[in-house]
Amino acid sequence: MKVSRVFGYQVLDSRGRPTVAASVSLTDGSTHTARVPSGASTGAHEAKEIRDAGGKFAEKFYSGLSVQQAVTNINEVIAPALIEEQIDLESIDNQIVELDPTEDHSRLGANATLAVSLAGAIAAAHSQNRSLARFFSPEGPLTIPMPMVNILSGGAHANRTLDIQDVLIVPTGAASFTQALSWIVAVREMAAKLGKESGYITNLIADEGGIAIAFDSAEKACDFVVNAIEKTGLKVGNEVSLALDIASTQFFDGKNYNLANLNKSYSQSEFIHYINNLVSSQPIISIEDPFAEDDWSSWQEFMNIAPKNLQILGDDLLTTNLNRLNRAIAEKSANSILIKANQNGLVSATLNVLKQARANNFNTVVSARSGENEDSWLADLATGWNAGQIKVGSTHGSERNSKWNRLLELEVIENTRFINPFN
Ligand code: PGA
Ligand code: ZN
Repeated sequence: MKVSRVFGYQVLDSRGRPTVAASVSLTDGSTHTARVPSGASTGAHEAKEIRDAGGKFAEKFYSGLSVQQAVTNINEVIAPALIEEQIDLESIDNQIVELDPTEDHSRLGANATLAVSLAGAIAAAHSQNRSLARFFSPEGPLTIPMPMVNILSGGAHANRTLDIQDVLIVPTGAASFTQALSWIVAVREMAAKLGKESGYITNLIADEGGIAIAFDSAEKACDFVVNAIEKTGLKVGNEVSLALDIASTQFFDGKNYNLANLNKSYSQSEFIHYINNLVSSQPIISIEDPFAEDDWSSWQEFMNIAPKNLQILGDDLLTTNLNRLNRAIAEKSANSILIKANQNGLVSATLNVLKQARANNFNTVVSARSGENEDSWLADLATGWNAGQIKVGSTHGSERNSKWNRLLELEVIENTRFINPFN
């Protein structure tokens, strides 16, 4: 089966900002579309999306965030190279690399390259009469990933009502994904109820569908979520644990970590101890970006003193980039990696990062972005790639629930298993 048409166009994401969609049509008459996500607490080392600020495509509205240049790059540069070619993910990605050999995809825009790469993957799966998950994992049971779900939002996603970006929960004791999701919804609704009753709530739905409450410290935010878990009747630790995304790049000034709501500034070594006390005194099983994206030495020091089983997860540190992952493996800077396709810019290269991580005993958490859309390919990637974990934000908003709903579907229609990756 061959590619008959490739086209890009501009659509809106969950925050009302423009994003790139790409469609790949095949000679059997089918068309396959993917829309790309976008971050807010974006790491400096991510692949570069192209937005039109100031350029010749800049639109009067959309505050310089339109993506017409990226769309034009799809239609005028990428499409002509792919039409009439056999549909195949590797060759699509190789063609894109030939057209844009920059490591950060800055020539064509990572939003353009990823949109075509994803639509190409979906089309390639169709050409084999498989779902996207089965395209990557044709045989045997599929492992449905353990969800890591946002309950409280802070940082860049919620007007900095909290210094840290997320307090999340992980339902490690659930026997199935279906049960896991029901627990998560129960905790989120309990947290919303408790927040309202106590007069804490400042914003019911933050960027990722979480609840924004102005706690001055991370400890108080954790205590609040622990209380919400207990009030639902679930057991903290055995059934549901906490995870944090500190997103500390956002408040590191090159020397100090500045917690504005707490009104405290920590040196690097003080912050290592602050984080270690936090994870030791709360039922936290995973901590993401406890240190800034280029503060490699703090990561390394923390790895030496952190509790044994703690998942130490690099997002801004690693940016789904093979070179940065290899450095983290060599220097023992982290033991887990967040996998975000749009930090990388191509599907097959993202999968290579995930494979390298797993080969080196890193946990892998496939993740959405704060700016999302109704697509559900993320659920198929996390499942087909056997990632073990997935992070999508909360359970409010169809741009989040499309992923959860796809996992519910996979659990029902496929031969699957659901494994606690923290065991
Ligand atoms: P972002 O945040 O998508 O806004 O970058 C998500 C995260 O930090 O994990
Ligand atoms: Zn993060």
